[in-house]
Amino acid sequence: MITKHDNPSGPYAGRHLRFGWWSLWGFLSLGLALELLHGFKVGFYLDVSNETRRFMWTLAHAHGALLGLVHILFAVSLRVFPDIATSSSLRTTSTGLVAASLLLPGGFFAGGVQFYGGDPGLGILLVPIGAVCLAVSVCQIARSLRLLPRPDKGR
Ligand code: HEM
Repeated sequence: MITKHDNPSGPYAGRHLRFGWWSLWGFLSLGLALELLHGFKVGFYLDVSNETRRFMWTLAHAHGALLGLVHILFAVSLRVFPDIATSSSLRTTSTGLVAASLLLPGGFFAGGVQFYGGDPGLGILLVPIGAVCLAVSVCQIARSLRLLPRPDKGR
């Protein structure tokens, strides 16, 4: 029987709540910066010749903001269902989510700083690594839900 003190859900929930809200703030600020580039009609971002940059930075903004929400959702899940934290893979899951939040939007952003015609820069190589981290973590979260009682077995 896992006691309240053994259960690591609290510290991990706190970690992901903090990380989620701060990364949401960061990527919303990036959205605001993109809005300003539109407002001031900045060619560096809006010229047709720079459309790869615009596409990459929009993807960085959208993925970063959405992943921030995923961290918050994970933190809330850990609080509401602390039993899922008993899974031995919690540390890997948590590290994978943080890595995905850095590598996916970071890779898109870096891919738009320096690019080659229609091809993004080398930073884009971080994106598939981040995607694998995210896929592994989300799979582990889904698998950890088997620890929750089912309606037919809970009676
Ligand atoms: C949870 C919050 C947010 C999410 C999930 C989100 C997601 C997205 C997505 C998916 C796109 C791409 C839309 C498309 O190309 O069809 C986008 C574009 C954009 N977002 Fe956000 N967004 C959020 C908040 C914000 C905020 C607060 C701002 C700024 C005040 C903002 C500014 C922009 C701008 C300027 C674009 C267009 C970029 C361009 O095409 O040049 N976003 N966002």
